[in-house]
Amino acid sequence: MALFGHPLGGTAALEPLEPWQAGEFAAYVARVRPHLAPWLPWAHAVTDTASARQWLERYADEQAHGRGRVCGIRVDGELEGGALFRVFDTQSGVCELGAWISPAAEGTGLVTRACAHLVDWAVRARGIVRVEWRVTPANARSVAVAKRLGMRHEGTLRQVFPMNGARQDLEVWALLADEWAGDGTDGGR
Ligand SMILES: CC(C)(COP(=O)(O)OP(=O)(O)OC[C@H]1O[C@@H](n2cnc3c(N)ncnc32)[C@H](O)[C@@H]1OP(=O)(O)O)[C@@H](O)C(=O)NCCC(=O)NCCS
Repeated sequence: MALFGHPLGGTAALEPLEPWQAGEFAAYVARVRPHLAPWLPWAHAVTDTASARQWLERYADEQAHGRGRVCGIRVDGELEGGALFRVFDTQSGVCELGAWISPAAEGTGLVTRACAHLVDWAVRARGIVRVEWRVTPANARSVAVAKRLGMRHEGTLRQVFPMNGARQDLEVWALLADEWAGDGTDGGR
């Protein structure tokens, strides 16, 4: 049972994901690791309940300090994905958004709807001016999300971090607040 959440259509919702849910999160990551691991460094680090709790506690701490946040995407109450602010800096007006979804729920628009709500909240409720999305060039589905959100490809950081035995490039996609048309809600205010 959720304390609160944002509806994403049908039986889906975006809800808080907190340290007390570490066992469920660890089981979820174990279930979908082959799907996430090519793209998300944390999918290698979250291997059991203790490491899941550590990861969720880091985001809870970031949230307490106004710097980040992680949410779960649920369908029929089951954890199927998530979205996060890896960076959230109201002083500079910049945040970085990321997301993931189970193979079974991929291709349904849930990620775009969840991210559109988070962008709307960041821009309209929190005064964020620039929302970034960083993605490995080979990750076509993720690039498509950035495009669906109306982001622009600004450039590519070459060999910026190591993962899966190779140094990875990252494309930087971004949208500015005055380019954001809204997600049709009240921005969470
Ligand atoms: C990247 C990832 C999150 C994209 O998920 P996704 O399900 O493709 O994204 P969306 O929720 O935006 O769904 C888009 C699809 O739903 C369809 N769709 C259906 N209804 C829709 C709606 N109302 N709005 C938008 N899209 C809709 C779109 O046409 C699109 O279909 P397509 O796959 O045939 O092109 C997912 O592939 C994933 O988790 N990958 C592994 C982790 C990862 O790479 N994360 C990102 C790291 S940067």
